[in-house]
Amino acid sequence: MKLKTLKLNYFRNYDNGFFEFNDNLNIIYGDNGTGKTTLLEAIHFLSLTKSFRAGSDADVIKNKQDYFQIFGQFTNSKKKEISVNLNYSRHEGKKVFLNKNELKKKTDIIGKIPVIILSPGTQKITEGGPLIRRNFIDRILAQINKEYLIALMEYKKYIYQRNILLNKYREKRINKYDKYIETIDEILIDYAYTIQRKRSECIESFNLVLKEVFKKTSHFNKEVSVKINPNINVDLENFKNVFREKLAAKFEKDILFGRTGTGPHLDHLLLLFGDRDIRFIGSHGEHKILLVSLKMSEGIYIEKNINEKVIFLLDDLFAMLDVTHCMNILKEVGQQNQTLVTTADITAFKKYGFDFKKYNVKTFGLPIGFS
Ligand SMILES: Nc1ncnc2c1ncn2[C@@H]1O[C@H](COP(=O)(O)OP(=O)(O)OP(=O)(O)O)[C@@H](O)[C@H]1O
Ligand SMILES: [Mg+2]
Repeated sequence: MKLKTLKLNYFRNYDNGFFEFNDNLNIIYGDNGTGKTTLLEAIHFLSLTKSFRAGSDADVIKNKQDYFQIFGQFTNSKKKEISVNLNYSRHEGKKVFLNKNELKKKTDIIGKIPVIILSPGTQKITEGGPLIRRNFIDRILAQINKEYLIALMEYKKYIYQRNILLNKYREKRINKYDKYIETIDEILIDYAYTIQRKRSECIESFNLVLKEVFKKTSHFNKEVSVKINPNINVDLENFKNVFREKLAAKFEKDILFGRTGTGPHLDHLLLLFGDRDIRFIGSHGEHKILLVSLKMSEGIYIEKNINEKVIFLLDDLFAMLDVTHCMNILKEVGQQNQTLVTTADITAFKKYGFDFKKYNVKTFGLPIGFS
């Protein structure tokens, strides 16, 4: 997939922005606050209908305006042109158009424009809590498997409804496991089964890619892997029965806490460095290299599964890695995939003799006050 042009209206600091990218390496540079990350964020919106930064969609609208719009023109590996347009307005919410047709379900766009985002914020994958790592695997699966995406969305929806019901029961002092809850639980059990099955399959095959990439990217003589500690820790054959029993057995406790305390929404994912959890032993640099390896592996893994090249969005790469690693990654990724990299310091490329011509680089200088 290649992004040819991007147009932005009232998107953060942009009133109107128009960019034409090349198919290889694009370097976006400018001082702090000039709109570099915002550009990558807009592309991420087109791919996954949301930002990779914290906050709501409304936060993205330029001051005092009522809406924002993003238009992207892409060409896929079969040379087919694809246009994606995402609009958000304070009154009408979000709409997504694929080749000018509005999608009934916005999430139908997910998987069509595969992107990988690496930004300082994504370091939370190796350093943060279990939710962030679950999201990492969910993001990969959502882009390659529609069945998983639907199961995950429906599962979350029913957990939310169940929790509302639990709170109502607490208020009304009901603690009988009744038909309403049982109906929700039966639906949850089916979706949970799909989630459990797909997660474990994905992690097993993802680890093979990660091992190879980590060997290439780092000089550490360590094995790395993703490990899942499922909340329902049984084989698939017994999964449905065990989950059913647990939901019923924990029902009174769930009412007390007002939330469902069992299920794959509570799975733990660990990143093993050697055979230990990187969160407790990893040095600063080890965290960074592992994150980069995870992201590179995510790219390779998605490509293998959907037969389409991913677009790499590398935000503030120099803040993430030392110069040698940065250059190696840009040379490798930038030759194989369309890559957009942002930096506040373009001179670093020149200082370290990066050959702009050889790697077919297009540069975009964002001046202060640009938009
Ligand atoms: N909703 C909004 N309306 C107007 N301006 C906004 C909005 N949201 C963010 N901004 C501003 O947009 C500018 C661009 O932000 P962005 O994060 O893209 O900068 P950047 O070039 O990546 O900077 P840095 O080098 O510091 O990472 C910032 O000045 C930010 O305060
Ligand atoms: Mg930035």
